[in-house]
Amino acid sequence: MRELTITGPGRIRPRRLRRTAAMRDLVAETRISPDQFILPHFVLPVERAEEPVPSMPGISLMGVENLLRQVESDLALGIRSVLLFGHPVQGTKSPGGEAAADAQGAVQQAVTRLKAAFGDSLVVMTDVCLCSYTDHGHCGIIEGGEVDNDRSLRPLVETALSHARSGADVVAPSDMMDGRVGAIRDALDTEGLGGVAVLAYSAKYASAYYGPFRDAADSAPAHGDRQSYQMDCRNGLEAIREAELDESEGADMVMVKPALAYLDVIAAVRSATTLPLAAYNVSGEYSAVKAAAANGWLDEARVVRENLMGIRRAGADLIITYHCRDALREKWL
Ligand code: PBG
Ligand code: ZN
Repeated sequence: MRELTITGPGRIRPRRLRRTAAMRDLVAETRISPDQFILPHFVLPVERAEEPVPSMPGISLMGVENLLRQVESDLALGIRSVLLFGHPVQGTKSPGGEAAADAQGAVQQAVTRLKAAFGDSLVVMTDVCLCSYTDHGHCGIIEGGEVDNDRSLRPLVETALSHARSGADVVAPSDMMDGRVGAIRDALDTEGLGGVAVLAYSAKYASAYYGPFRDAADSAPAHGDRQSYQMDCRNGLEAIREAELDESEGADMVMVKPALAYLDVIAAVRSATTLPLAAYNVSGEYSAVKAAAANGWLDEARVVRENLMGIRRAGADLIITYHCRDALREKWL
């Protein structure tokens, strides 16, 4: 049989630019800088503790002192932003979730200590929500069996203010109540905290991928689910509406969450706003990769690189991911 040769338009050969590693690096469209990573942490209201989260291999709940040491070594790797989640003191969960705004809470103490230790070389972001602090595990206040949007705003604002007063650079409301971004922005400005930025969890979907996180944050709803406030996975246009609303309420940055099943949403929101866009590569996305890798079913290094590049290529500027320490330490990117 005669060998086929490419003629005419076949003179154009995309493979030429894939021939060597240096050539591929030269023409790569997507790059990730460590500056773009945000690493989440779960903080316990104690000085010293390190409790591994079984469903999230490599992740531990940490006491404030342990967190400080961890962040110090992460800074050396180039991770310059953290996102803090807290646990309340045992026995202080309540219907109103008041412990979320406790000036001496785990998050508030961690923020103070991190800023004292690392100053402005570290960006400290805090998750603003009630679900780890309410006894029912919902992200807002329950009224007549439902999560009451407007009654939830006051405690959310108080929580954001307490984080900002502790020195947070960025507060990130994840509750998905309507109007909370504007309410938080107003309160920050009124209280003389106008320099504190708001990262809005704008398009946060009701997702089964949050499963491992709810173990880590002890925040699973005791009854029902979050579908009356988080987004429906069938909707994409609505994500743009949410991002536009948050922008109009004063958000400094917006977010899509989870990331991997929502790459189209990341791309759509990227082209709908000029604000920096964060994508949250959530707990279940992390744990699924970890579990498959532990079984020898997937090559962790290559899968993590592919997932993170996909998130960036889709249009995310910032990536919140539990993988970033491994990715930088092991040079997976
Ligand atoms: C709480 C919150 C959740 C996550 C971030 N903030 C869980 C939820 O809404 O149930 C998920 C993060 C992750 O899965 O890594 N509002
Ligand atoms: Zn919540």
